[in-house]
Amino acid sequence: SKCVYTYKEHRDPMLKKRDDFEDILEERRNSSDLKYALRCYTPVLYKGVTPCTSSMLKSMVLQSDQLHYVINQVSKETGKATDDIKEEASAILEEMAQCLQLSTVRFFAFTLSKAFKTLFRSICVNEDGIQRLQQAIQEHPVVLLPSHRSYMDFLLMSYILYTYDVALPVIAAGMDFMGMKFVGEMLRMSGAFFIRRSFGGDKLYWALFSEYVKTMLKNGFAPVEFFLEGTRSRTSKSLTPKLGLLNIVMDPFLKGEVFDVNVVPVSISYERVLEETLYARELLGIPKPKESTSGLFKARKILSEDYGSIHVYFGQPVSVRSLAQGKVNRCQFNLVPRHIPRRPSEDIASFVNDSAYRLVRAQEENMVLKPWVLVASLLLQYHHQNQAAGQKRGIALGELTAQAVWLRDLSRQYGAFLHWPDHIPPSEVVSSSLTLHRGLVRICEDKELLSQAVILLSCASYRNQALHVFVRPALLALAIHTASSNQKQEVFNSFSFLRNMFSNEFILCPGATVQDFEEACYLLVKTGALQFTQQEVLVTERGHRTLAFLSTMLDPFLQGYQVVCRFLCEEATETLTEKQFIPAVRKFIKKLLLAGFYLLLFLRFSFVCVCVFFFTSAFYKMHNCVLCVCVCVCVCVLSR
Ligand SMILES: *[C@@H]1O[C@H](CO)[C@@H](O)[C@H](O)[C@H]1NC(C)=O
Ligand SMILES: *[C@@H]1O[C@H](CO)[C@@H](O)[C@H](O)[C@H]1NC(C)=O
Repeated sequence: SKCVYTYKEHRDPMLKKRDDFEDILEERRNSSDLKYALRCYTPVLYKGVTPCTSSMLKSMVLQSDQLHYVINQVSKETGKATDDIKEEASAILEEMAQCLQLSTVRFFAFTLSKAFKTLFRSICVNEDGIQRLQQAIQEHPVVLLPSHRSYMDFLLMSYILYTYDVALPVIAAGMDFMGMKFVGEMLRMSGAFFIRRSFGGDKLYWALFSEYVKTMLKNGFAPVEFFLEGTRSRTSKSLTPKLGLLNIVMDPFLKGEVFDVNVVPVSISYERVLEETLYARELLGIPKPKESTSGLFKARKILSEDYGSIHVYFGQPVSVRSLAQGKVNRCQFNLVPRHIPRRPSEDIASFVNDSAYRLVRAQEENMVLKPWVLVASLLLQYHHQNQAAGQKRGIALGELTAQAVWLRDLSRQYGAFLHWPDHIPPSEVVSSSLTLHRGLVRICEDKELLSQAVILLSCASYRNQALHVFVRPALLALAIHTASSNQKQEVFNSFSFLRNMFSNEFILCPGATVQDFEEACYLLVKTGALQFTQQEVLVTERGHRTLAFLSTMLDPFLQGYQVVCRFLCEEATETLTEKQFIPAVRKFIKKLLLAGFYLLLFLRFSFVCVCVFFFTSAFYKMHNCVLCVCVCVCVCVLSR
């Protein structure tokens, strides 16, 4: 058979070593924020270079060979004078460039300290990671790749680096901030540079942009920071990586202009995301409220709430040189002058793609999971089963705690980075996480209840934080469920089909099907859920619970795909653009839900008719007590 089952040799994820965290807000709570904002800030730079100014940087870009080449090319193609194009280029650069100013950074250091202290209980950072970063910055050009779940991410990153006296990064930001002129300028002065969302065919723009980023990187002006996922993930699930900027930052290494580039994945996990319900509304297609004074009141409301803690984990710096070892032949770059832009060859493109997936995986692995993530996963499954059974009950707190403890142990065995305080009794851990999220669940006389779409979606996005821990075993569980037999090869084929289908949904590295299968087998065998014989895969007695939990985890995604397929088959008659597609699917789903709702109404109506019939007949046949009681019960049930 094609695949070899070497899962026994697989590295045990439980043995993964991770650093300890330090709360940086603790010091802020005892000492003066003003002093902190005005303190001496002397970061060490790449090879000890003295930093050049932002305007020097701009003129370096405008005078580069690369830009001259592209300007001449554009001039030939369009017939415009080179001087006009140069002017255009200079204007674009003006719109794009950052201008980092220490005074603005200090202003942010002060205001953010105040805001963070009221919003969060703690901001925990792994100091070992900071030290590794500090070291890397002195030796190589550094690229920071934080995960992106909130608008706050990049301010938070700069805040932390300022706190530890590490060089402040320059950050690639989307143009959406430019709508708010003042905010945009503030961000620019704290190190953001702005790129247009789409500039597909614009050669000049592309050349300027890539040259700008490369110049900053090569000269060690500052670490470059951008979001590999391209945009904020509204569902807390990692998005498939965008490759444009990664291509640019790897280029100086590939062309031999620098010895190495170090890439540092950073995982930022929020216990409660500030934009929590905003995202859920956005996904449901509810229009955003207009910014106004009422927005200001809302901001006040946000400031008065408790958002728990934040964990920021600076991962191991990844050397692009060692990533490329044996995968890329850099000789190909010797054949063409460096300043002539070229499309990346096939092997380079697949190398960059592969690296991007690995880096997102590295982000995922160091995401800290709070107990609430597990509790939300359980509550959602429970809610779903209840809905299917037509009931509307809560779950007893004791039962929820017991299940959460089971899931805690399972996820630890799967190598999750779980932040569960072991010195506190589990019941307290569960009830305190319920209290923090009281906007989503409520505890009433020992029970908890979940309802409404916005709330369900918010809970789902917490569950999604744990997806990367469970996704491989869950795919295997589903594969076992759907395979036509329990022959190993059959199961593998069905696993491979499902993995392929979900390749845009979850972060599954290209070409790693066998590896993922082996990892899943390893984990399920280790936890005693599966057994392998010569030919077959057997589910053990105690494995059923695990497999049921795992495959239910993928249910919402499967259902989503099914509905979209149904929509495409039944409704999508004309071609739809991407912009029209999502609202159309949303409308279709609403229709399906309403159809179900009317069916329910109809059933209830028939039920009432039968009741009335019994009631009247009972009335005629004298006061039949039993039937009266029945009617009372019916009315009670209906009124719920
Ligand atoms: C800050 O104050 C708390 C008590 O209020 C104390 O336990 C802690 O050690 C202090 N931390 C620092 C860094 O001084
Ligand atoms: C990157 O890999 C993914 C997953 O295998 C694939 O779907 C995608 O098309 C690749 N992208 C490029 C640009 O090669």
